Amino acid sequence: MKKLKTLLVLLLAGQLLHAQQKAPTPPMGYMTWNFYADKITENDIRTIADAMSANGLLKAGFDYIFIDDGWQGGRDNKNNMVPDPKKFPSGMKALCDYVHSKGLKLGIYSDAAQLTCAGYTASLGFEEQDAKTFAGWGIDYLKYDYCDAPSDWQTAIQRYSKMANALANSGRDIVFGICEWGDRSPWLWSKKAGGQLWRISADIRDKWQSKVAPKKPADLHHSGAGILDIVDINTSLHPYAGPGGWNDPDMLVVGLYGRKGPSGDLGGTGCTDTEYQSQMSLWCLMASPLMVSCDVANMNANTRNILFNKDIIAIDQDSLGVQAQCKFKKDDWQVFVKPLQNGDVAVGLLNRGGQSNTITVALSDLGLPFTACQATDVWSKAVTSWNKSVTLKVASHETKVFRLRNK
Ligand code: GLA
Repeated sequence: MKKLKTLLVLLLAGQLLHAQQKAPTPPMGYMTWNFYADKITENDIRTIADAMSANGLLKAGFDYIFIDDGWQGGRDNKNNMVPDPKKFPSGMKALCDYVHSKGLKLGIYSDAAQLTCAGYTASLGFEEQDAKTFAGWGIDYLKYDYCDAPSDWQTAIQRYSKMANALANSGRDIVFGICEWGDRSPWLWSKKAGGQLWRISADIRDKWQSKVAPKKPADLHHSGAGILDIVDINTSLHPYAGPGGWNDPDMLVVGLYGRKGPSGDLGGTGCTDTEYQSQMSLWCLMASPLMVSCDVANMNANTRNILFNKDIIAIDQDSLGVQAQCKFKKDDWQVFVKPLQNGDVAVGLLNRGGQSNTITVALSDLGLPFTACQATDVWSKAVTSWNKSVTLKVASHETKVFRLRNK
């Protein structure tokens, strides 16, 4: 009886901890930067909120709108941050209320220096005050950038910790996204500094891969990070991801099709739908935050099919929170394996090469807990049986994803 009581107390404590944990699964939503850049207005946010609740994005789990750089209008005579009155004439509180009324949450953006990356007012020296302002408006998430700040690790850790503490004292639960682009290995210290996710790379561009092979990840600031460049950085970072702390490989470029703007710089001339589907597949296998960035009010059928696929989203949002490991790499092939909460395993086969190709993989090479299974293709929905090995044709730059169940 005593043992049972102790067990119940422990279970309850575990549940409470889970309930209190911020970002128990990777955050999902819409981020304004790639489509609107710093021209974002309150009308755009209302349009996005209306579109997301009408077109099924919210229902699919994308429940945040993240306002990126460009909303700021400086400080008032009490040093309170204010939105640009031309772009946000009704103010942030009214906008938060509107977004919340649609069942969505609202994120905002600032920077750990005096100015943001696009040159707007930022939060250095005003952390407590700004955190309280954001909380007072009803903000649910802060993306905190690192432009215009010193390059050493110590200062970065100190500035991020300072804002995290300010958010903790703000009286509101606000998820904290650290954005220093992976330059100071933030996977090593972000959780301790109070972040729930941390960018791992230079800004993503709307392209498959950088033409210049980077000698080190920071070179991608100049050559432009493509989908595959970021996958290559993220592959070794799986030990750092888990409930409450996620590697953030930046926004989904799905559906942008070479649109001009931030994602169009540095060779971002657009991807094929196969490449966009690969991005969604790899981001979900890698338990990544999912931030849509295309024109959500005007998505075509292919973009919808990629973004609204509940089976691939379930792999991303699986409560075990494990980031896939690359268990097999040969020539142009990579196979990623992600264990899931109910004992199923998600497996992704990526063909990095320029040609369609056929691969045979022995299940024993993948470290699976079984050698025979039922395999559901999360994109085609076809169900097949795999026994000891599988042979598959995969198109150039395609990632096939299967949910495997022990037989
Ligand atoms: C940096 C960030 C981007 C975006 C811009 C805004 O480049 O990495 O994601 O927030 O700043 O200026």
